[in-house]
Amino acid sequence: MNILLTGGAGFIGSHVAEACLDAGHRVVVVDNLSTGNRDRVPKEAVFYELDITRDDLGPVFRDEKIDVVNHHAAQVSVQDSFRDPIFDAKSNIFGTLQLIQNALSYQVARIVFASTGGALYGEMEGTPANESAIPDPKSPYAISKLTGEHYLDVLSHSHVLEPVVLRYANVYGPGQNPLGEAGVVAIHCHRLCAGNAPIIFGDGEQTRDFISVRDVVSANLKALEPGVSGTFNVGTGIETSINTLTGMLVRLSGLQVDIDHQPAKPGELFRSAVDAARLRKTGWEPVQNLENGLLETYDYFYRQARH
Ligand SMILES: NC(=O)c1ccc[n+]([C@@H]2O[C@H](COP(=O)([O-])OP(=O)(O)OC[C@H]3O[C@@H](n4cnc5c(N)ncnc54)[C@H](O)[C@@H]3O)[C@@H](O)[C@H]2O)c1
Repeated sequence: MNILLTGGAGFIGSHVAEACLDAGHRVVVVDNLSTGNRDRVPKEAVFYELDITRDDLGPVFRDEKIDVVNHHAAQVSVQDSFRDPIFDAKSNIFGTLQLIQNALSYQVARIVFASTGGALYGEMEGTPANESAIPDPKSPYAISKLTGEHYLDVLSHSHVLEPVVLRYANVYGPGQNPLGEAGVVAIHCHRLCAGNAPIIFGDGEQTRDFISVRDVVSANLKALEPGVSGTFNVGTGIETSINTLTGMLVRLSGLQVDIDHQPAKPGELFRSAVDAARLRKTGWEPVQNLENGLLETYDYFYRQARH
């Protein structure tokens, strides 16, 4: 298949690009390199440096004979979405609409959309949220992702459109940007590899559902299979506290460091995990356990630091 992959120079997108190429697909990456890196785009992929909000994507659909869209390009920072909600909406709502409209014009039915479970469901109560939980967006970012989902849903009733929405939990793995405000695994690894103490905001008892990028990649491959369509959570359903995660990473580093405790960030969720039973029914299973996933990620950052 000819896959148009937006955001393929970014953390998750570049892993998806590699896996799609390995599976024998042709991959056409569209990325404006705002947070992505050209070097992360596999050499076998076709690359267009384009902004999905500004540039006409029509010629790419036409010339590359696109069969499937996999949409990972986005303004990804929750904190930045509070600072500049218009930019967030332009990237995540208008950018997504541009893609959908081009897909409709060029008869591309399948659109895989990278959405968010963590930000969308709000505070977790009781058990991990499944897809029928009523969304409770608490940030402009969550609103813009949910809006993208709504457009896909509504337009799929009036057009030939087969959306596959993947609502990710907290994704971690090699290649994640450690310099942003999100991605606690990458941030901790980066600091530890420089000999610095990890910083914990708040008491550290807040929980997250950490899913390896490897398992996110296999969900994206699953999304290409015929018969798989709809909205799916992508997570482990396991809550891990930031204290536990930090302890695991400090142990991996072998360093003797005191944790740097700082005040909680306003608006941060206390508990978050998603139930991926619906995706499991398609045959998908997360295979990477946290211990091994953290080891692989720490190793990546260690090698980067010594490069
Ligand atoms: N990392 C997570 O834990 C997580 C969780 C839930 C959802 N997601 C979603 O997964 C997707 C990928 O996230 P990531 O963590 O790999 O982030 P990332 O910042 O590494 O990747 C985003 C990519 O999109 C590109 N991009 C941004 N705006 C663009 C535009 N207007 N036109 C073209 N390219 C543009 C960037 O240059 C970058 O390469 C995003 O849609 C994000 O919202 C990520």
